[in-house]
Amino acid sequence: MKRIPIILDGDPGHDDAIAWVFAKAYEDLFDIKGVISVSGNQTIDKTTINSQKICALLGIKAPIAQGAVRPLLNPVMTAGNWHGESGLDGAELPEPEALSDLSGVELMAKILKESEEPVTIISTGPLTNVAQLLMTYPELKIKIGVISIMGGGLTYGNWTMAAEFNIIEDPEAAWTVFHSGIRLYVSALNVTERALIRPSDIEKIRAVGNDVAEVVAKWIEFFIQYPMAIGYEGAPVHDPCAVLMLAKPDLFECKDLYVDIELEGEFTRGETVADFRDWSTEKPNCTCCVDIDQEKYVKYLCEALHAYDGRKVKI
Ligand code: RIB
Ligand code: CA
Repeated sequence: MKRIPIILDGDPGHDDAIAWVFAKAYEDLFDIKGVISVSGNQTIDKTTINSQKICALLGIKAPIAQGAVRPLLNPVMTAGNWHGESGLDGAELPEPEALSDLSGVELMAKILKESEEPVTIISTGPLTNVAQLLMTYPELKIKIGVISIMGGGLTYGNWTMAAEFNIIEDPEAAWTVFHSGIRLYVSALNVTERALIRPSDIEKIRAVGNDVAEVVAKWIEFFIQYPMAIGYEGAPVHDPCAVLMLAKPDLFECKDLYVDIELEGEFTRGETVADFRDWSTEKPNCTCCVDIDQEKYVKYLCEALHAYDGRKVKI
């Protein structure tokens, strides 16, 4: 079967990193053409070096480029409380892979131009890179098959009452993407907060018994601290849902919805406003996951980690 050419676009970030663990593990399905960083969980310098180190850890041989330094309008807002000072605290990582001379948007455009097949973009951070790509190279929109997004909260937020972090970081970019007409898969908080890894799951991950699984176990041991301190039952590992919606659709129940992005509201800027009215005349612009099999989620992670059996990581 032809592999799907994909671009990984994120702000690693522990859950971005684990999303990329899945993406590389599914190399029978995905052909990773490029990795692009964006500022979000941490500043761009940190998310970029983290991207390079993750690629070294996993053996991703695709070009890596630094993406947007800041959102289109908003100032940079980071999440060090969740991801630590480095943006990926908790585990020693190998020396970074080299960084491309191209900018993130230039690399994305090059990949789209050169691809014979439509390219899937998997975005697990603010949507600044994708919006800039669409605004700079509108003629390349036709080369994008699907954008699978971790972002939004169909009925609530996490960074504010109404808005989820990736969207409120750059609402204008999100609006541009949600109004692009491109096929969108959306994993929002309603599901991704139930992509939960509990303390009892960490030993199942460690028991996979290879170098990559040990790093993932250490990442989760760090990442789980803040959410559990504020009341979660474990670590909401959001971003892999954007990969799994493509690779393991059996994990989810999905619904086609019309979703728009609030740009103005005093309390609601960055909200993903979803239209659940069955009688709505709005044409759906995305496929959203609305339920997840939580047991299977951890099982799939452990299975994916076995793809790295025999991979010796020099740290
Ligand atoms: O709100 C969760 C999202 O924000 C995740 O993608 C996490 O990595 C952060 O980017
Ligand atoms: Ca992210």
